Amino acid sequence: MPATLQSIKYESGKLEILDQLLLPSKSEYIAINGVEEGWQAIHLMQVRGAPAIAMVGCLSLAVEMINEELHDKKVLRQEIEGKLNYLVSARPTAVNMKIAAEELIALANQLSKNEEVSAEQMKEQFLSHIESMLAKDIEDNMAIGKHGASAIIKTVRDKKNVRILTHCNTGSLATAGYGTALGVVRSLHAEKRLDHVYCTETRPYNQGARLTAFELVHERIPATLICDSMVAALMRARTITAVVVGADRVVANGDTANKIGTYQIAVIARHHSVPFYVAAPFTSIDFKIPSGEHIVIEERPDCEMTCIGEHRIAASGISVWNPAFDVTPAELITGVITEKGIFAPSEIIKLKPEENGPDA
Ligand code: MRU
Repeated sequence: MPATLQSIKYESGKLEILDQLLLPSKSEYIAINGVEEGWQAIHLMQVRGAPAIAMVGCLSLAVEMINEELHDKKVLRQEIEGKLNYLVSARPTAVNMKIAAEELIALANQLSKNEEVSAEQMKEQFLSHIESMLAKDIEDNMAIGKHGASAIIKTVRDKKNVRILTHCNTGSLATAGYGTALGVVRSLHAEKRLDHVYCTETRPYNQGARLTAFELVHERIPATLICDSMVAALMRARTITAVVVGADRVVANGDTANKIGTYQIAVIARHHSVPFYVAAPFTSIDFKIPSGEHIVIEERPDCEMTCIGEHRIAASGISVWNPAFDVTPAELITGVITEKGIFAPSEIIKLKPEENGPDA
């Protein structure tokens, strides 16, 4: 993978992230030396995208722990729990950091209770678990790409190539690598079945225009940028085979929170009979929340809407509402593409792991 598209660089104890606030004009890596810097980078959106947020959060804990001398397992367990809960608070809507924190706290509990494990061994096993998350995310994304591409190809007749619409950024920059919805696009392109992908600019933060467009141009994938307000016109003017978007949180009934504007694309897709897919790893599924109205939606500063850079574009004195995400109801979703296959939103609840089971 070209270095510029690697959002997270980690090598035992050294973590660097591509500063996404500077893209596409500058590709600059910044060092993350511990949990506080990890929290800040997530909060300021120097790293963003649900899986990448979780990865950077957990790795920031790993770099902090690696040089610490720890002799007491109980102290270590408490530190781990406190720091992970702090990292979860950096941004509220994406669930991946919370799920990773729960998994790691459970591991810390289990290791601290095991009398055969010393404090040093506990630290080592804990760190190697965190480090394995990066490779797993890439593996999962490639599986998502494969499942999504083959399902979409099956919907077209006469071996025609497909046209995809996507929203926000769900690619290498939003994950450990390859991407979720953009992974499906990558997979279609690799199989030479992609005619074209359309990406929305994704106002107000412009993840589409800045980041997705950057990835697509970089990989020479045939792509066109459109404004968010052009989706209906696009579906009338061109045949779009499918919409594929990512997710910040898929909940038990299949309702899905994703970047603001996703819901209106789903409404338009339904009007035009275009299948609407959500591509998300299991680490984006929150079985604890029954339905979309319980999802906390992050609200972001006014200046993201009223200004472009330092330059104010909105009339001064106007009030602003800037939710960063919206919820697409399950009934508008054709399927959720995961690393384990594609599921109807109504099937999500059946995928819930057994409580207290080995994978719970
Ligand atoms: O505010 P962001 O840029 O973190 O929002 C990102 C999205 O909404 C993505 O679609 C989602 O996190 C999935 S990334 C694979």
